[in-house]
Amino acid sequence: MTHRFIAACRRQPVDRLPVWMMRQAGRYQPSYRAVRQKVGFLELCRSPELIAQVTVAPIDEFGFDAAILFSDILVHLPAMGLDLSFEKGEKGKGDGGPKIANPVRNRADVDALKIPSPKKDLPYVLDGVRAIRTALQGRVPLIGFVGGPFTVASYVVEGGSQGFTRLKTMLYAEPKTAHALFEKLTQAAIVQIEEQIAAGAEAAQIFESWLGELDRFDLEEFSFPYLARIAEAVRKAGVPVIFFGTGMGGHLERIASLGFDVVSVDWRMPIEDARARLPNVAVQGNLDSTVLLGPKDVAVERARRIMQAAGPKPGYIFNLGHGLQPPTPVENVKAVVDAVHAFNWK
Ligand code: CP3
Repeated sequence: MTHRFIAACRRQPVDRLPVWMMRQAGRYQPSYRAVRQKVGFLELCRSPELIAQVTVAPIDEFGFDAAILFSDILVHLPAMGLDLSFEKGEKGKGDGGPKIANPVRNRADVDALKIPSPKKDLPYVLDGVRAIRTALQGRVPLIGFVGGPFTVASYVVEGGSQGFTRLKTMLYAEPKTAHALFEKLTQAAIVQIEEQIAAGAEAAQIFESWLGELDRFDLEEFSFPYLARIAEAVRKAGVPVIFFGTGMGGHLERIASLGFDVVSVDWRMPIEDARARLPNVAVQGNLDSTVLLGPKDVAVERARRIMQAAGPKPGYIFNLGHGLQPPTPVENVKAVVDAVHAFNWK
């Protein structure tokens, strides 16, 4: 039987609305913090046993309708030749942002980047996928993921979470270098997602979180052709492909036209507008994750308003507009998941 999350991706009718949350495995959970007391973030990403443990925990704890591989959009960068670390992100300390000691600044730096071989360079990710599938026993589907070329490039060029000025300047001053970089990051994304699917991932989400930084001309020149290639690779592999970005409300139809089965929307636009504009793809979102920091009944009421507005037409997946935040009370997460499962349109 098709699981309700996969059915919703395919715009088929479901018995009840599916719900999962980005960063559903993370620091808001006491069980995750206990694991991070013992191991650093990258160490965690390199242990198939721990990957399976933290991926499956929120399914057991909250009853989400999909699991998402625990990893990061930057895990492959060391295999490309970049010196990646998570600052302050070691042994128990939170808020560790990514840092790249040798960022890419010119054509020679781009030419030196290697395309990773997932089987050789990232076996723990693929073993993690297999371990998760074994632990899940078919209860819910597993979502694999990769970062979008623009979002990954922003870390690679800036050297960390330092904005977008250097990368955007590269687009205008050195467009050939920028294209060469996006080409390599696209190839790296495609091999990784193909291998995750071969190992057992049953859907794929492309995290292009910061794409809203670009205007329409830059999107067309520097992003959309690459995203279309990643979407095509996933579709060829036979699983649904989900776009995730923020600040993309002005470009929803164009995103859908790139070949995605599901388009995510953040909290900056009415969900009913997104659904009306995207009759031929599924839509995922759009609760502001900050709402979950407030009182439980407010969070539940806001979730209900979104479901009411999204409407009963098949092809809607309840999610947040961006990831769960570390101070979120676990009881709010539980209450919202239960409210989604209990929801019926009047
Ligand atoms: O959604 C999931 O739970 C799956 C796992 C996942 C993580 N990161 C775990 C993580 C996924 C899909 C990501 C994607 C990711 N990583 C993105 C795009 C999605 C988004 O949130 O916009 C980005 C930009 C990154 C890069 C990254 N990783 C940053 C900027 C940081 C530091 C900020 C932060 O939240 O700590 C990370 C670390 C990270 N990735 C954590 C987790 C659970 C926290 C690590 C810790 O335990 O200290």
